[in-house]
Amino acid sequence: MMRIAVLGGHGKTGRAVAAALADRGAEAVPLGRDAWPDLPGALAGCGAAYLIAPNLHPDEPAYVGEALAAMSAAGVARVVYHSVASPYVPEMPHHLGKAASEDLVRRSGLAWTILQPGAYVQNLDLAGPSVSVPYDVDAPFGLLDLADLGAAAATVLLEGGHEGATYELASRQVTTRQLAAEAGLTAERVADPGTHPWLTAMFGYYDRHGLPVGTLPLRALLGRP
Ligand SMILES: NC(=O)c1ccc[n+]([C@@H]2O[C@H](COP(=O)([O-])OP(=O)(O)OC[C@H]3O[C@@H](n4cnc5c(N)ncnc54)[C@H](OP(=O)(O)O)[C@@H]3O)[C@@H](O)[C@H]2O)c1
Repeated sequence: MMRIAVLGGHGKTGRAVAAALADRGAEAVPLGRDAWPDLPGALAGCGAAYLIAPNLHPDEPAYVGEALAAMSAAGVARVVYHSVASPYVPEMPHHLGKAASEDLVRRSGLAWTILQPGAYVQNLDLAGPSVSVPYDVDAPFGLLDLADLGAAAATVLLEGGHEGATYELASRQVTTRQLAAEAGLTAERVADPGTHPWLTAMFGYYDRHGLPVGTLPLRALLGRP
């Protein structure tokens, strides 16, 4: 059975990837903070790694650089890096950190694939009575379902032909108002809670531009809409 390390594997993204790997008969090895004192040791015996940085990591390129060095030291041959759709957006600092990290991945010497996910549909609370977001409810998005992300990650990790590829991933293109209406709900714009300056920058960008993402690469990877 192929052993695949999932860095950040205990978070919501990592759990979706690990579940999809298990569905395909692979062994996922989730690695969190406690693996970092000896990351090469934790990676030993893994044929590939799925690399997820923690949300809003203050220095994602440093985290990714350290992880790539540990993979090389441990003899991990393949890396799939979990980036973001539209990484090069100077207005969004955490996207820029992923753009710089993509460059490190491409120059790592490992066989690499980069996934660029859109915002998760699970970020939205569809429990009602209304869907609240701190940006324009009519802004266009390519939203990604975490189950689709997991399935796509398993495909690129377990099947050949994806080395050197960068895929943007969205399950569907939709606005918050449309998604809410489908659930029988209204959509409302609320004030930015101001929890983190990078999130404030992101909500401002979302307000002006949304985050459109194409759906065809995911459809091709999954072989279904
Ligand atoms: N939310 C979205 O819509 C969206 C869209 C596209 C991309 N992304 C990206 O997806 C990534 C993952 O998001 P997530 O919400 O799944 O992650 P998360 O829950 O914030 O973190 C994932 C895991 O990282 C580990 N971790 C935390 N701090 C760490 C540190 N300093 N060093 C090493 N490991 C650490 C934790 O594992 P332990 O608790 O086991 O230590 C945690 O479970 C982020 O990079 C985000 O930008 C998110």
